[in-house]
Amino acid sequence: GMHVYTNRPEISSAVAKHKEKGLKIGFVPTMGALHRGHGSLFNFALENCDVVVVSIFVNPTQFNNPADLETYPRDLQADLEFLEHINPNLLVFAPSTTTIYGSQIKALDFNFDGLDQVMEGAFRPGHFEGVATVLKYLFEIVNPDMAFFGEKDYQQLQIVNKLVEIENLPVQIVGCPISRHDDGLAESSRNKRLTVKQREASPFIYKTLMQAKEHFNDQSVEDVVHFVEQEFKGKEHLELEYFEIANATTLKHATTKKAEDKYRAFIAVFAGDVRLIDNIALN
Ligand code: PAJ
Repeated sequence: GMHVYTNRPEISSAVAKHKEKGLKIGFVPTMGALHRGHGSLFNFALENCDVVVVSIFVNPTQFNNPADLETYPRDLQADLEFLEHINPNLLVFAPSTTTIYGSQIKALDFNFDGLDQVMEGAFRPGHFEGVATVLKYLFEIVNPDMAFFGEKDYQQLQIVNKLVEIENLPVQIVGCPISRHDDGLAESSRNKRLTVKQREASPFIYKTLMQAKEHFNDQSVEDVVHFVEQEFKGKEHLELEYFEIANATTLKHATTKKAEDKYRAFIAVFAGDVRLIDNIALN
């Protein structure tokens, strides 16, 4: 089986030895419950770096809902088999909560210029401070040249870019495209929790995002938002939490369209108690 690093000095010195040889270190942080979406990130990292570190750590400070933390799927053995299958040379770092946080499990304070006040940040208070805190610690321990994040969590990717900027961290952040099931549903560890009926209904989310993109060509922001809200009215098994069109960099809510700006649509939908998110580039 694969070796699992659990403490700081061992992973740090393993990475340092590779760095001394001039090898480029890639890093993919995860919370485990690995699926093909994560797999696409590992492959991106393997293509761009000489040595790739994968962390598996269910980070308590980013869960605003204790029940969500409690039920988050944990299966290290299955994750290790998944990783070994992709590439047995991956370095796996799976620390305990105490190794990362000591005895004080709490998030640091950051000023993200409002990036954390909208969408996921608005609906999940404190979530992004928790994400940024664990990433700051993990970057310190792993000391990678490049770190890879999925556009599935596009707002998280922008927060990470901001974190690197404000903390002046010596790491290059790479965003990777969303990996989807054949029917369009974005891959997620939460998809396993969908009932058959919910799973059958869920491709509607991406289908609607693609229609929104079509409409965005010749309709106002307001009309596109109205269209999506109407589509979800009375849609069985799916309940729209938010649909938002925002500037792709600042994540500021768009009202009018400017030709020189990039826009993105963001959606959060409940299927029962399973919360699904997705997003799409509009131009
Ligand atoms: P997790 O949800 O495990 O996701 C780890 C990485 O996989 C993230 O960068 C996420 O965007 C990416 N990912 C998940 N599903 C994807 C998909 N369908 N296509 C492309 N990429 C996908 O995100 C986290 O963990 C945590 O917040 C973390 C960054 C590890 C900090 O705790």
